[in-house]
Amino acid sequence: MTGQHLALILPARQAPFTVSTRETNDPGPGEILIKVKATALNPGDAKIQKRGIYVSRYPAVLGSDGAGVVERVGEGVTRFDPGDDVFFHGAFDDNDLSTFQQYSIAVVDFAAKIPDNLSYDQAATVPLGMGTAAIGLYGRTNGIGLVAPWKSGGQGKYRNMPIVIFGGSGSVGNYVIQLAKMSGFSPIITTAALRHTDHLKRLGATHVIDRHLSFPALKQAVARVTSAPINVIYDTVSIRETQEAAWGLIGPQGRLVLTLPSVIDKRPDDRREIVLTNGNPHTEDNWETGRQLWMNLARWLEKGDIQPNSVETISGGLKGINSGLERFDCGQIDGVKLVARPHETER
Ligand SMILES: NC(=O)c1ccc[n+]([C@@H]2O[C@H](COP(=O)([O-])OP(=O)(O)OC[C@H]3O[C@@H](n4cnc5c(N)ncnc54)[C@H](OP(=O)(O)O)[C@@H]3O)[C@@H](O)[C@H]2O)c1
Repeated sequence: MTGQHLALILPARQAPFTVSTRETNDPGPGEILIKVKATALNPGDAKIQKRGIYVSRYPAVLGSDGAGVVERVGEGVTRFDPGDDVFFHGAFDDNDLSTFQQYSIAVVDFAAKIPDNLSYDQAATVPLGMGTAAIGLYGRTNGIGLVAPWKSGGQGKYRNMPIVIFGGSGSVGNYVIQLAKMSGFSPIITTAALRHTDHLKRLGATHVIDRHLSFPALKQAVARVTSAPINVIYDTVSIRETQEAAWGLIGPQGRLVLTLPSVIDKRPDDRREIVLTNGNPHTEDNWETGRQLWMNLARWLEKGDIQPNSVETISGGLKGINSGLERFDCGQIDGVKLVARPHETER
């Protein structure tokens, strides 16, 4: 035990959050202790608090996305030193690894130094959104197993193959568009509110289709872009409406990635594939894809191949997170990732 810090605690299933102190533990082998300067909010955090899902042990600390300064390194760690600025993919269901707190422990396989062109706030937008995008596209168990851009021949491999991305303006959607570009997909068609068109085209979308179109109108709009079968679709929204539209669009060799459980009534003889992804790299199935991603991520961000999400900083430190999470339910988040700064919490 090395002291105490403030954390946003969920004391019991669906209870209100409280801010209180917890012990700051030492990092174990292959881990680093980080002073968390910025943490991003995700829809999953709101669902855990509202619906009591995903987390089994309480009291719980939530938050998956962190950026900050290395305080201490665990046994065997050679890639990081105290004082390094890093970003990292935390984990819930292990309170030491969660990010809605002032100090967090990171597993070095899912951490990297922040490139000079990114702030802590920007770096904190990357981990879960990018992890979900990458594991969905390149993971073997929780994805459709495409050849990743970090593998030999992976960059540009899917040249002249169309991809459709439902919800390109969301956090996951932004990263799917950028990875699709790296993988060479063309055209890259995404659905979104049209006010995001310029931004999504800068990220790599070739065509942005109004997400409010009816299914027949969407199908026609896609057909105007390409006559090739759409064999890869990533539905980042994954509500019934988008899943059914995706299933209606997808070609005979189709592979569909979902972020929420499938509601599609798939016939047993239908050979098209549906995969529910899981963006958490801290599982046996995802570890290697996550590790490879994190070995490349900082370089991609530095070169500008990958842009972080746009940031909206929320005030009040950890105390601002609750009202930030409520905005997910009201649809009050518009093309930004909400980011809190745990050390701005007033006692
Ligand atoms: N399985 C996993 O491991 C995993 C991991 C991360 C996230 N998720 C889930 O994935 C979903 C997306 O997460 P996120 O972080 O990307 O969310 P987000 O950043 O909050 O994205 C929400 C955006 O989706 C767009 N949208 C809503 N309905 C749409 C529709 N019918 N068609 C097209 N776009 C629509 C809206 O954009 P406009 O402004 O364009 O209207 C909205 O701003 C959430 O349900 C989240 O819980 C799952």
